[in-house]
Amino acid sequence: MKVAVIGVGHVGLVTCATLAHLGHEVAGVDVDAEKIALLASGHVPFYEPRLPELVAEGFEQGRLRFSDDPAEAIPGSEIVFICVGTPADAGGQANLAAVERSATTVARHASGTTVVVEKSTVPAGTAARVRETLRRERPDVAFHVVSNPEFLREGQAVADSLEPDRILVGADDAEGLQTMRRLYEPLTEHGHRMIETDVVTAELSKHACNAFLALKISYANALARISELVGADVEAITDVMGTDPRIGPAFLKAGLGYGGYCFPKDVAAFQSFSSKLGYPFPLLSEIARINDEAIDAAVAMVQDLVWNLAHKRVGLLGLSFKPGTDDIRLSPALALARRLIALEAEVAGYDPTAGDEAGREVASLIVARDPYEAAEGAHVLIVATGWDEFRSLDLPRLRERMARPLIVDGRNFLDPDAVAAAGFEYHALGRPTVAAGRPRTRA
Ligand code: UGA
Repeated sequence: MKVAVIGVGHVGLVTCATLAHLGHEVAGVDVDAEKIALLASGHVPFYEPRLPELVAEGFEQGRLRFSDDPAEAIPGSEIVFICVGTPADAGGQANLAAVERSATTVARHASGTTVVVEKSTVPAGTAARVRETLRRERPDVAFHVVSNPEFLREGQAVADSLEPDRILVGADDAEGLQTMRRLYEPLTEHGHRMIETDVVTAELSKHACNAFLALKISYANALARISELVGADVEAITDVMGTDPRIGPAFLKAGLGYGGYCFPKDVAAFQSFSSKLGYPFPLLSEIARINDEAIDAAVAMVQDLVWNLAHKRVGLLGLSFKPGTDDIRLSPALALARRLIALEAEVAGYDPTAGDEAGREVASLIVARDPYEAAEGAHVLIVATGWDEFRSLDLPRLRERMARPLIVDGRNFLDPDAVAAAGFEYHALGRPTVAAGRPRTRA
């Protein structure tokens, strides 16, 4: 099928490359001419495993192209995806200006019946606005507006697209639905499930999923706060919870909280549009508040341990918003760095992929080239992002470099006993302290 994708950011580019891989002919279009030039020369501007290979494959097979000119990309397309950003305005409301501009662009350039697919995360009711815009601008063309929210995780976006748990398609008419069935046939014929709903239900489902995942994380973080007060171990509690199949173990990891471009924005947008509808959904603001509290708890812990932070070196392991990505948008690690810097600490951070970008974002952050450099002279070393490579740190080497052998594990990620055995005092969020040289006895 002939497909155009408006917006080639993280979601749009993965959509382009994976649809081309499934055999469709795809044109990605973006107003950012520089980004288009970069893509056209075969460069993927962010870190996403398998994506560069898929883009190269799309070029080789002649099924993928990029353009900054919608007049070149859209005419003749049976389907046009809208994958533009929906950033939060002050107050949390999703800014839908780029979605509206995309609808106008499709209207201007559509050459015949077109299925317009909303993939950007948007408040329920947005498709109806898109439909109105299309009809107003091009009453002569038949448009079918469909919602097809993405459930891609950064770092696993290609696998999430090609082996999805589910494909959600919200359509209000048979033609739009049939077109989407044909588009995803290469996946559904291999047993991947397509859930079909009406448009507004699909739109709302996306916010429902992201807010629920954020809720699980905040629940775990609230449990960490109460565990700190009674001396319980939040990791053991969430393990117990996770064994109940009705709860499940995923997204119950307590720590510095969630970040990135999706959860914080989506929870705020969901809250804002629910309130506008007359249902304020106070649970959503509580999710966000508990998430912010996680950073407060880490700062308080570090201050309590180190006492005066002014002019003391703090080592930070991990700067991206989660492991497996170079994305630092709303990274809890950077939020923590900023707070410590405001307390006049000297913060040296290391990240396997995001160091340079983080250094540009937080001017006074010292960017270290490896974990040992980050630990040099440090009074405390904080694990802020749980990168796998931190599991195999040379702990004695790390300890030798530090001014004081103290680790605060902001992701409850390291093995407390191994760390204590290596001579560190180990503190974690919502877990009992483990003294240096005195690993806990296990039954
Ligand atoms: C999230 C969702 O997981 C995707 O399903 C969704 O499609 C995507 O948002 C989106 O709306 O585009 P992503 O933002 O890539 O994906 O990141 P996640 O892997 O979900 O992690 C989000 C944050 O939660 C990270 O900061 C992570 O460190 C944190 N987290 C995750 C925890 O603090 N604890 C956990 O147990 C799990």
